[in-house]
Amino acid sequence: MNIYNAIKEGTKILKKNNIKFSALDCEILLAEVLKKQRKYLILNLDKKLNRVNLEIYKNLIKQRSNGKPVAYLTKKKDFWNSEFIIKEGILIPRPDTEVLIEATLELFKYKDYANILDVGVGSGCIILSILKEKQCFYGTGIDVSSKSISLSKLNAKKFSLENRVKFIKTDVDNFCHGKYDLIISNPPYVNSGKIKYLEKDVRNFEPKLALDGGLDGTFKIFKIIEKASTLLKSNGRLVLEIGYDQKTKIIGLLKKRRFYINNIIKDYAKNDRCIISTKIN
Ligand SMILES: C[S@@+](CC[C@H](N)C(=O)[O-])C[C@H]1O[C@@H](n2cnc3c(N)ncnc32)[C@H](O)[C@@H]1O
Repeated sequence: MNIYNAIKEGTKILKKNNIKFSALDCEILLAEVLKKQRKYLILNLDKKLNRVNLEIYKNLIKQRSNGKPVAYLTKKKDFWNSEFIIKEGILIPRPDTEVLIEATLELFKYKDYANILDVGVGSGCIILSILKEKQCFYGTGIDVSSKSISLSKLNAKKFSLENRVKFIKTDVDNFCHGKYDLIISNPPYVNSGKIKYLEKDVRNFEPKLALDGGLDGTFKIFKIIEKASTLLKSNGRLVLEIGYDQKTKIIGLLKKRRFYINNIIKDYAKNDRCIISTKIN
């Protein structure tokens, strides 16, 4: 079978299984099998696949048909300006989270030094993206998942950032080390009752621990605000990702803890996605 037909057949199968971006997914998976860029496929549509590669590709298409996300199949995901190593059991970085990186870089654009804490570090995508951009920043990433801590360490090594970041496996409740200029987090913020309505790729494959924010979705955010009120330096910043309908509740929680609200930022779909606040003395 040549590349053209492999993509055509794969697309047909994925479409039948209601996979949204069927042709794109096939191209990404086939490029991964051939260890080439996607543009290679377009330039070599007539090229025949050998038997081994065809079998590997068919197997990936089968897994994708069942809903397994592409990033878990290719074991990588682009985020901000880097390619992160991804493993099953860890949340796949989302483009919406890039809003937090952009906002943070703007906020700290004249600062040469900052000590950062990333709560719920996952793959390390947030803290490592910031450290890559700001050469004199240092940081700590915490997560209750040991898989997340080892993946973050792997990504830190990939980007040669091991000397400026440490990762600690802990529940945010039990963490009480250091004082920070910035605490940043993309916490689990999905209402427990709504998890079953998420897309099947997410619902069936991504870790509940990374999604479940309790009864109204704000339980973990509340914990982070509590923690930030003791771990932030005076005038330190708290940058939080939130659910599209959580703004009012979170602003209330922040004000109760004497945070000043600086800004609410929308994501690419124009939903409220990020709150920036400052700890007042
Ligand atoms: C939404 S994911 C974010 C992952 C990553 N920061 C990102 O943006 O892709 C939330 C992370 O919080 C972690 N987490 C959940 N409960 C936690 C807790 N009580 N203490 C620390 N981390 C927690 C999860 O394991 C998960 O990695």
